[in-house]
Amino acid sequence: KLPSRVQLIDVGPRDGLQNEKQPVPSAVKVELVHRLQAAGLKEIEVTSYVSPKWVPQMADNHAVMSGIARQAGIRYSVLTPNLKGYEAAVLDRPDEIVVFGAASEAFSQKNINCSIAESIDRFAPVVEAALAAGIRVRGAMSCTVGCPYEGEIAPERVGYLAGLMKGIGVQRVDVADTIGVGTPRKVQAAIEATLGHYGIDEVSGHFHDTYGQALSNTLAALELGVWNYQSSVSGLGGCPYAKGATGNVATEDVVYLLQGMGIETGIDLDALVDAGVYISEQLGRPTGSRVARALLAK
Ligand code: HMG
Ligand code: MG
Repeated sequence: KLPSRVQLIDVGPRDGLQNEKQPVPSAVKVELVHRLQAAGLKEIEVTSYVSPKWVPQMADNHAVMSGIARQAGIRYSVLTPNLKGYEAAVLDRPDEIVVFGAASEAFSQKNINCSIAESIDRFAPVVEAALAAGIRVRGAMSCTVGCPYEGEIAPERVGYLAGLMKGIGVQRVDVADTIGVGTPRKVQAAIEATLGHYGIDEVSGHFHDTYGQALSNTLAALELGVWNYQSSVSGLGGCPYAKGATGNVATEDVVYLLQGMGIETGIDLDALVDAGVYISEQLGRPTGSRVARALLAK
């Protein structure tokens, strides 16, 4: 049942860098995207069109999107929470926009300042406009196993959100463990609830590694047949809402896992490690990838 091929979406430039307190120059973000595409990534989540007061690090979205030397066959995605964000994003011609909701009411309020129901009302016109313009639409679903404010999240609530996403035309969804508290059976339950509304080709795993469970959770999702995953080069990122939180699982670590299992990714691990070294040096800290550290120590 394990998939023979996996598609990775590197979310480092967005999910990773959005949490950086220090300013990261747009040119560095662009260079990171270039290195990711050179390493063979076919999908890159570049930036977000959100309020610069909420997330100052993503305020240079236009500079980054317009600075990329795009390659054919690569999907460049961006986050858009509302029509205002969509209208700015569309000028930069993303291949896919991502609306982002949460399975937890409290997280929805903290993250996008509205209830789950209100968020769907805001996403609906965004989805409609994007599809009419020939832009693909993905839906991120946060806190699908646990929430920093509400604790454990029941699979039914994930199914409920997935149904709402499906209802407004979102083409595929990410099952996100935002704060990295999930363990394999819980993650599988969240995915199974999502599969009540979406096909296996339309569901991706998005695992943060706070508790060191992200690779185990990836394997658990692989066992269900999930073959799309978000990860972050060098394990960039962190959640401002969870003490000691880390970023997404490192793309290098996922690629090593998959290569070791004979699952095709199309990614050149050495080039990917180089991309991780590049951004880590720019940020002035060691890589967050265990695999990169091991390979570099050889
Ligand atoms: P709000 O304050 O309720 O919005 O924020 P508003 O409509 O009342 O507008 C307030 C101000 O924001 C106005 O400006 C708007 O123009 C402006 P002012 O008149 O005060 O100068 N504004 C915008 N500016 C730029 N772009 C926009 C935009 N919308 C309004 N799109 C809002 C609501 C959603 C805007 C806000 O809460 C926000 O920006 N939140 C973003 C939070 C965020 O980016 N979080 C991180 C991404 S989600 C994530 O990381 C999870 C994920 O990785 C999956 C996982 O791991 O779980 C995806
Ligand atoms: Mg995330």
